Amino acid sequence: MDRRTIVLGSDHAGYDLKARIRRLLEAWGVPVEDVGVDTSAVSVDYPDIAAEVARRVQQDPRRQGLLVCGTGIGMAMTANKFVGIRAAVCHDVYTVQMARAHNDANVLCMGARVLADLDDETLAAMLRAWLETPFEGGRHERRVAKIRDLEAAGCKTQDAGCEMRE
Ligand code: RB5
Repeated sequence: MDRRTIVLGSDHAGYDLKARIRRLLEAWGVPVEDVGVDTSAVSVDYPDIAAEVARRVQQDPRRQGLLVCGTGIGMAMTANKFVGIRAAVCHDVYTVQMARAHNDANVLCMGARVLADLDDETLAAMLRAWLETPFEGGRHERRVAKIRDLEAAGCKTQDAGCEMRE
């Protein structure tokens, strides 16, 4: 099992699933930084949590982020605003494997309300896939490099020229 640090975060909707994830990771001896929240009882704004996790992953490539909200969508939208972050919403072992192998994702986003019936075995398999699946590189390196190029060209500003290289 890989021993990189996982930076965990959730909003109120994702708190219970985050707690399950944290218990599993700690049982496996995986280093965890948990940025909160610490309860499902208080409604919070998911961008605040996603931004904190994204910043920490930006600071150290040995970190990976794991964000949980109701759908995973808002967390991914927010985290992907940060340069160098590739956040993927995943629903099962296959999407987790592909997010790592093909997209070199460094932030995994999960939707607690989407995965309301997620059993412990499947959750563990998704987390193992996240920790253990390497980036395949090769043709996928070229494609991820194009994402980096678009990011470097400032394509998140409306007036930027965003030509894609061949
Ligand atoms: C909170 O109700 C919900 O909007 C949030 O958890 C998330 O699903 C947003 O993308």
